[in-house]
Amino acid sequence: MSPSQSSPDASNSESTGQAPANSLGQAAGRLGMDFGTAVEPWHLDDPDLEPIMRAEFSVIEAENSMKFGPIHPREGAALEAFDFEGPDRLANFARNNGMKLRGHTLVWHQQNPAWLTTGRLTAEQLAKTMEEHIEVVAGRFRDTIYAWDVVNEAFNDDGTMRSTIWYDQPGIGMAGQGTAYLERAFRLARQADPKALLFYNDYDAEMLGAKSDAIYAMCRDFRDRGIPLDGIGFQGHLIMQMNTGEALDSVQANFERFANLGLVIHVTELDIRLSSGTPEAFAEQADFYRKFVELCRRQDAVKLIQMWGISDRDSWIPGWFEGFGWPLLWDSKMKKKPAYFAVLEALRSTLSSAPSSRGRSDAGSTADSA
Ligand code: XIL
Repeated sequence: MSPSQSSPDASNSESTGQAPANSLGQAAGRLGMDFGTAVEPWHLDDPDLEPIMRAEFSVIEAENSMKFGPIHPREGAALEAFDFEGPDRLANFARNNGMKLRGHTLVWHQQNPAWLTTGRLTAEQLAKTMEEHIEVVAGRFRDTIYAWDVVNEAFNDDGTMRSTIWYDQPGIGMAGQGTAYLERAFRLARQADPKALLFYNDYDAEMLGAKSDAIYAMCRDFRDRGIPLDGIGFQGHLIMQMNTGEALDSVQANFERFANLGLVIHVTELDIRLSSGTPEAFAEQADFYRKFVELCRRQDAVKLIQMWGISDRDSWIPGWFEGFGWPLLWDSKMKKKPAYFAVLEALRSTLSSAPSSRGRSDAGSTADSA
């Protein structure tokens, strides 16, 4: 039904005259955005999760299965060194269901295989390994993956370079040269997949501060010098203490400076952890989700909001942050939480002009979503 034919009683459909969007992905789509989730290949066999994946999300990303260790478990660059089974399943699922697939991640200090990390490899060998890894992995998915986290978490909280196998332990031959090794990784990724959007991704960089300053400086430098960097990924593993006007203003100002570099912004791993699963805590969490999604809507450069998982049953949070849990939009019994409805509403509602004058036009945006 075209907008002009819509019946007048399609009342909560706002200015488009369309029926209301019934899923997160659909609602985001009307704003020229995507809504995604991290998944594991075996979630495709889970009768609780698979239907939700298909119904609610327009993007999926491998929670673990495309990381170096899982995808490249054996030494060498021959096909037998790689394990593409899970990743290929995700790629096929995305293709068959008209979803976009996001790649995570090519260069990281965690979840690397023992053959890589035992200290046997020289800087020269590591440089070759990084080159081959990016070539094979990004090359394999060049027709499927629309955006890659090329490098993940390269900075410390104080903005200094994180000491990693790729940087200086022993590194790929660029130890002490700041972001030079990232530059190398981005150039290799562009060669392997000329079409995918290339992202730098990190956590605790949502607000202004030492870490986001350092990332910003790198991004500005890369943009100035034509290094192939298209986007910035803010992971968004948030805590309730950030639900203040001051913190949200800081996030907004930070997003704005990255947007002004011409970068696409993806919120890549959103979850808001709680220390209890009470109805009151769920209500406060919903309030924060709503404000955060509204903030994203107000920044045109934000093209993706992606959850780090579907349900509280499957989240990484309880295993990594003692005493915390309940971070996602579905509860452990696969019921939609207040946070789900808050996010959907935040995507569907008409934004007040309140905090920012740079409003994303409310509905029916035709902007290309990246
Ligand atoms: C996490 C996964 O969710 C866990 O299952 C795994 O055990 C550890 O990694 N930042 C990232 C993600 O970039 O890859 C991490 O994912 C969470 C933090």
